[in-house]
Amino acid sequence: MTDYMIQTNGLNIAFGDKQVLCDISFDVKKSEIFGFLGPSGAGKTTTIKILTKQLKQTAGECTVNAEISEIGILSDNSGAYERLTVYRNLCFFAELSKTDKAQVEEILKKVKLWEDRNKKVKDLSKGMKQRLLLACAVIHSPKLLFLDEPTAALDPATTAEIHDMLRSLQANGTTIFLTTHNMEEADKMCDRVAFLNKGEIVELGAPSDLKLKYAKNTVEILYEDGNAITVDKDAASIVAALSSDNLAKIRAIHSHESDLAEIFLSLTGRELK
Ligand SMILES: Nc1ncnc2c1ncn2[C@@H]1O[C@H](COP(=O)(O)OP(=O)(O)OP(=O)(O)O)[C@@H](O)[C@H]1O
Ligand SMILES: [Mg+2]
Repeated sequence: MTDYMIQTNGLNIAFGDKQVLCDISFDVKKSEIFGFLGPSGAGKTTTIKILTKQLKQTAGECTVNAEISEIGILSDNSGAYERLTVYRNLCFFAELSKTDKAQVEEILKKVKLWEDRNKKVKDLSKGMKQRLLLACAVIHSPKLLFLDEPTAALDPATTAEIHDMLRSLQANGTTIFLTTHNMEEADKMCDRVAFLNKGEIVELGAPSDLKLKYAKNTVEILYEDGNAITVDKDAASIVAALSSDNLAKIRAIHSHESDLAEIFLSLTGRELK
């Protein structure tokens, strides 16, 4: 039995003469949350479309070890029936996927929409609607879940609720492939991340490993007058800085740890916006 849910090797896709994905190779392990990070236009949604067979690659292979019926997708064109209630929408998705109706109540409670089950979708707030779409995407307990920027433009409370839900899905064995621009989200939620830039994977690994690999070995010394200097994090450099005339005016000394956004910027010269 393979340990992988997704394996890709040298995936390419071009639209006309525009090469959008160039030799993408990565594996997603079963039950991991895998983050696919990159700025707008990098090719994230295109990759999801290839993995879910909505698009055919120009070259390369990909293997997804789940049937279409075992996959859930939440994308920016996911929709619910605006004139139906929350409850009816989920019943409809349950019927489509031949899922026991008992699941509807359970999932609505999980996404905290049970109280609002009789509201029509058109009357929901953005965060409520996103929680409903997530419920629709997971009503059939998929083995593999694709989430295309699931928390974009959501408030912190709704984002935290969605994150809790994803952790509980993962704990039940669901593999999650997540795209995001949000490096904090990726750091918090993902077991491993791939950085995608202009259709190429420029780095891949666990957030903690990447932070170690690209750690800046510096400390920042802040002075009372608002000035700051950065010195190498070795004893001799720090002692030299501290024995300068400015010693009495030091306000704080910080060890600097690069975050994923800084690492992405240093690798690509681009912000993740
Ligand atoms: N069907 C298509 N025909 C032509 N070009 C396409 C098509 N689909 C995507 N593209 C192009 O491929 C590139 C990558 O698009 P994609 O939607 O995968 O980016 P993304 O990383 O998901 O960006 P965003 O963060 O904005 O969602 C873009 O330049 C886009 O215009
Ligand atoms: Mg996209």
